[in-house]
Amino acid sequence: MRFTRRRFLGGAAAAARGGAGVYELVDTLGGGRPSRAAVGDRPPEQHVLDLSTTQSEGVEVVVPPLHSEVITATLQDVDLRKAQAELEDVLSQLDEKYEASPAGLGVTVAWGLPYFDRVRGAADRHLPHDRRAQKPVLLPTRRFPSDPAATILEANDVAFFLRSDFAEHIDDARRLIFDLDFLHVTSVRRGFAGGGFDGKQSLPKKLALAAGVPGADLIPDTSELFLGFTSTQKAGLGPRLIANHETLGYVDLRGGYFHGGTHMHLSHISEDLEAWYLNFDFGERVLTAFAPGQKARPDQQTVPQTPKDVQDVAQLDGTFRRTGRFGHSGSIQPTSRLQQDHVGPDGTVYPKGTAIPQRADFNTLDNPFAFSAHQARDNWSSEPAAGVHFVIFNPTGDDFERNRLAMDGVLPDGRKLDVPQRSRAQGFNSVLTTTHRQNFLVPPRRHRSFPLAEL
Ligand code: HEM
Repeated sequence: MRFTRRRFLGGAAAAARGGAGVYELVDTLGGGRPSRAAVGDRPPEQHVLDLSTTQSEGVEVVVPPLHSEVITATLQDVDLRKAQAELEDVLSQLDEKYEASPAGLGVTVAWGLPYFDRVRGAADRHLPHDRRAQKPVLLPTRRFPSDPAATILEANDVAFFLRSDFAEHIDDARRLIFDLDFLHVTSVRRGFAGGGFDGKQSLPKKLALAAGVPGADLIPDTSELFLGFTSTQKAGLGPRLIANHETLGYVDLRGGYFHGGTHMHLSHISEDLEAWYLNFDFGERVLTAFAPGQKARPDQQTVPQTPKDVQDVAQLDGTFRRTGRFGHSGSIQPTSRLQQDHVGPDGTVYPKGTAIPQRADFNTLDNPFAFSAHQARDNWSSEPAAGVHFVIFNPTGDDFERNRLAMDGVLPDGRKLDVPQRSRAQGFNSVLTTTHRQNFLVPPRRHRSFPLAEL
């Protein structure tokens, strides 16, 4: 089915008003819903959503939810205890209605520093502390070396992260959240994921073409990401509980209120598809996304990154000295992978080379959001644009910062690989622009509604 640009933009405007909009095309153009195994009760963690896997080019890959959405909000002047009960009531309704998988609905409620300032006394006593970094787990949001000065550091109280294969489940949750009169919704961020793992044209390719974003025709047909590679291979994503505060022992839980919680970073990144596909040939795209020297078959999209394929600091340093450049995954791996075996508090063994962060990012055509309450500040436009809403769970904010700094060439010991910021010698950075960022804390499910307010 072909969509005129006019019709697409009409959809974008509808999305901006909170209507269904362009992302209806995910269901119209998509090739059906993935099959999902039955699941049990919701886990104590809010961020854990068990996902099925499949094979892509001989590699096990996680099948992400088709639809994802983030709603951010600030709080009106409000009685926190009353609001706590009201929000918990809404969340419990959703739990009862939908199962805890993408066949139902995943809901993760995350809280920002401005919220914890409202409960400062209890926060000072209970917020987890990062022993390794000797810093609070929830850090003020910052820019990174490759960020432009214009990157907006946001100050939302709360973010709702919704995931489902069914748009109508997310619509339902959004309606209930919008009805909470103590929330002032600041943004709605929408998107989709779904690789052409079955060999058919992928959703990102179809939607980019339908939207007519520059460079859409250059995206490989079966690509899971606009940038042409698979990003959900199982070995590259942290296993189930590894991103919990308590699992790797970095965190002092100070009484345990946040046991089972995690840290969430949320950003919007816009992608220059034309620069990526026209200025970089396939070979350079591989070394930019992975590492110089990475072997790949022509047009390979899923490039294995098992523990034996990943780089340590010495390899990263050596490759950089030889080639003057580094890749995205390769530069991050000295911080994103366990450097030695670890046994979690529940006895789970995590071998050296296991991935730590749980990435839950999704493709978007928002520019930068589907809805913005601050259109001038957010540089909002109804023109679709290629990007990702980047969502990642790490045990601590410092752990996220180590990964993100590594993406800019900062080694775990603080040394910086010497390349100009945003140059093509430095991984993806020259084709990516981060427009917005914020750090959040995700409490365990039992404290998901207005954490600490009852104290
Ligand atoms: C538009 C932006 C981005 C794109 C298109 C992208 C794409 C990719 C791809 C293709 C991979 C390798 C495939 C895989 O492991 O399955 C990867 C790995 C990874 N990326 Fe990104 N990425 C982006 C931004 C970021 C950002 C902002 C971070 C923040 C730190 C990040 C963190 C990671 C991590 C931790 C890995 C796994 C490295 C490993 O342990 O092997 N990415 N990304």
